[in-house]
Amino acid sequence: MNIRNMKIEDYYEVYQLWQKCGISLGKSDSKEEIQKFIFMNPETSMVGTIDNKIIGCVLGGYDGRRGLIHHLAVHPDYQGNDYGTILMECLENKFKENGVVKVSFWVQNSNIGVVDFYEKLGYELRKDIVTISKVL
Ligand SMILES: CC(C)(COP(=O)(O)OP(=O)(O)OC[C@H]1O[C@@H](n2cnc3c(N)ncnc32)[C@H](O)[C@@H]1OP(=O)(O)O)[C@@H](O)C(=O)NCCC(=O)NCCS
Repeated sequence: MNIRNMKIEDYYEVYQLWQKCGISLGKSDSKEEIQKFIFMNPETSMVGTIDNKIIGCVLGGYDGRRGLIHHLAVHPDYQGNDYGTILMECLENKFKENGVVKVSFWVQNSNIGVVDFYEKLGYELRKDIVTISKVL
């Protein structure tokens, strides 16, 4: 798998990948919103390709305090080959280069099984925190 920065031209292929992987998609996933995200996080918005086909993706954001991870996905035909692990390690290395000291993200309750994957990478499930959000 080759890993490179995501370009907005990749949007439709990446969106299809997210759909295929059952990622919950909403208003923040429109082309305009993803374009803004890539603009602000050019080196931590990444795709993985095999034979020029996008088979993996992860979006990493940094707000100056925390690294935030969104929409890690590996195409079902390619899962179980360490590609998800490799994408996460690549993103973590980029975060470290940028001085990020802590990474957080959300997992939907309906996808709680995936926590096993993250625990293998050293992540810890926080049970002492709830998420609060508001649509602006
Ligand atoms: C989660 C995901 C990215 C993992 O990608 P992958 O390339 O299959 O993962 P890896 O091959 O690197 O797996 C590493 C280990 O985690 C385990 N693992 C992978 N996905 C898992 C899952 N969904 N649940 C539990 N364990 C999982 C693997 O069995 C493997 O374990 P092993 O080392 O004991 O063999 C992929 O399953 C996916 O795209 N899932 C759907 C989208 C999703 O849930 N994304 C996360 C949103 S928070």
